[in-house]
Order: sequence, then structure tokens, then C-alpha cells
Amino acid sequence: MKIIHEIGALKSVLKHHKMNGKTVGFVPTMGFFHEGHLSLMKYARKKSDVVVVSLFVNPTQFGPSEDFDAYPRNLDRDMDLCNSVGVDYMFVPEVLEMYPEGYATYVTVESDMTNQLCGASRPGHFKGVATVVTKLFNIVEPDFAFFGQKDAQQVSVLKRMCKDLNSSVEIIACPIVRESDGLAMSSRNVYLSQSERQDALVLYKALSEAERLIRKGQREAISVKNTMVEIIESVSTSKIDYVEIVSATTLKPVETITEDTLIALAVKIGKTRLIDNLNVDFL
Ligand code: PAJ
Repeated sequence: MKIIHEIGALKSVLKHHKMNGKTVGFVPTMGFFHEGHLSLMKYARKKSDVVVVSLFVNPTQFGPSEDFDAYPRNLDRDMDLCNSVGVDYMFVPEVLEMYPEGYATYVTVESDMTNQLCGASRPGHFKGVATVVTKLFNIVEPDFAFFGQKDAQQVSVLKRMCKDLNSSVEIIACPIVRESDGLAMSSRNVYLSQSERQDALVLYKALSEAERLIRKGQREAISVKNTMVEIIESVSTSKIDYVEIVSATTLKPVETITEDTLIALAVKIGKTRLIDNLNVDFL
């Protein structure tokens, strides 16, 4: 595996592979890998000839009071993990390589898709994500890009963006990877104390109950939502940011649950904000 820090160097090695007819699979990340990230790399390895992983903690997607500086980092460990799953190139740019002095261009998805759910409590977040992903797509020019369904809103927003901008990148959404007790894997789980880690299971419990109700035939969104809220509020360290039942395509709230429905939640456990979701289509 090669580590590349410069845009020009990455473009030129990839040009060589593309001239030889190789397909390129791309996994954008912010590092501090867990099995969730590795699963995306394994999907990319299976589907593409050349696998590129980017590791860039993107400052433009963090709000001023968010954890950009504190975001967990461990490059040596991440390099070993990438190597172990057969990644060919790891692209690790400096902030100034991506956003040099005078940088002035941003991509915004101008729709309710970006100002609700996580967008409501993280203004500007999806502008930062759309901008960096556009830049990364322009640098790597992949055939396929792999994203986790864990960040379901990110997937919906990026699919909209690619469609609107006539991108030829195929976005592939991969299933959520969980700890054995159900907690969705996240780089931010390291912030949880031992007792908070137990309390955090309430997100999965609420989604599992929603799944049980839907499998039993419940289609009324409000009824499923109320049950979930009750379960989450039974834990004293929890503070609901949102519990929403929406269309997976438009992210607009729905009254009736169908195959296009996404049940998404964000809950603070102590100081740590966790997200999780259930895509009814995946059931
Ligand atoms: P990051 O949080 O590092 O996540 C990188 C990718 O891993 C995302 O597509 C995310 O959905 C996926 N992922 C995280 N946890 C997962 C889990 N438990 N199961 C499956 N996939 C999981 O998302 C970002 O970085 C950034 O916003 C990025 C797209 C790189 C743009 O900066």
C-alpha cells in the first residue's frame, strides 16, 4: 500500500491505472478506523481493481463549537488496518493541500434535505461534506464510492448532489456495522464512559422495537415514533436531538411507513451525540 499526501501525485498514479482499463473504488473517511470503515474498504476491494481510501479530517464540516481539534486520530494504526484489508492507496492530505490560501468555492445542496435531522443541529455541516466529497471525487475520479448507511442523511444528500451535478460516480451505500450488543460503531464511541456506554444501547433498543412493530404490521409513523421516544427517555443520561420517520429519498417526514422509509435518530448520551437509523428497505 502506498501513502500519498499530494493531490498531483495521486492523480498521476490513478491516471496510469485508468489508462490500463482498471476500475477505481473509493472510500472517503476521517480516520480512526473501526469495523464500519473496514467493511466499506472490503466492499470496495471486492468490486474494484484499485482501492483508494482518503483520510482527511475535514474542517469545513465541523461547526465552531464542535470537536474538530479533539476528533480522534491515529494514523499509524489506520495505515496498518488499511494494509490488512488490501487497500492500494491511502490519500492523506494536509488541510492546506485541500484548502489553500484563497480557497473560495463551496457546494451546497439547497433543499430541506440539509437543514433538518442532523442539518438542524449542525448548520453548515452538509455544505462542508458536499464540498469535500466533490473535491475528493474530482481528485480520485472513482467509478464507485462507498458510504455507510450509518450516516443515512449523508448518503441521501450525496446521491442528490451526484444526480444534480451529473456526476458519473456510482454511490454505493453499505449496511451499518454494529458492536455485538447492537451499538452502531462510531469513532465517537470512545468519548463514552463505561456507564454511558451501557446507556447508549437505548438507541438500538428503540430501533429494534420499531423494527419489531413494523414487522408485526404497524405502519403508522406517529405510533412507532412515540414508542421509540418513550424507550429513549427511560434512560436518564439521554437527551433526544431528534427521532424522525422520513422518506429515505427526500428526507421529508411521512405519516405512513413504506419501503422508502428511514427511521433516524440522534441522541446525546451525556455529552456525546450519537446517531443511528433503520432503513425499512433493508428489512
Ligand atoms: P467518517 O465519519 O470517518 O466515516 C467514513 C465512512 O464510514 C462514512 O461513509 C460512514 O457512513 C462510514 N461508517 C461510519 N460508521 C459506520 C458503521 N458503523 N457502519 C458502516 N459504515 C460506517 O462520514 C465521514 O467520515 C465524512 O463525512 C466524509 C464522508 C469522509 C467527508 O468528510
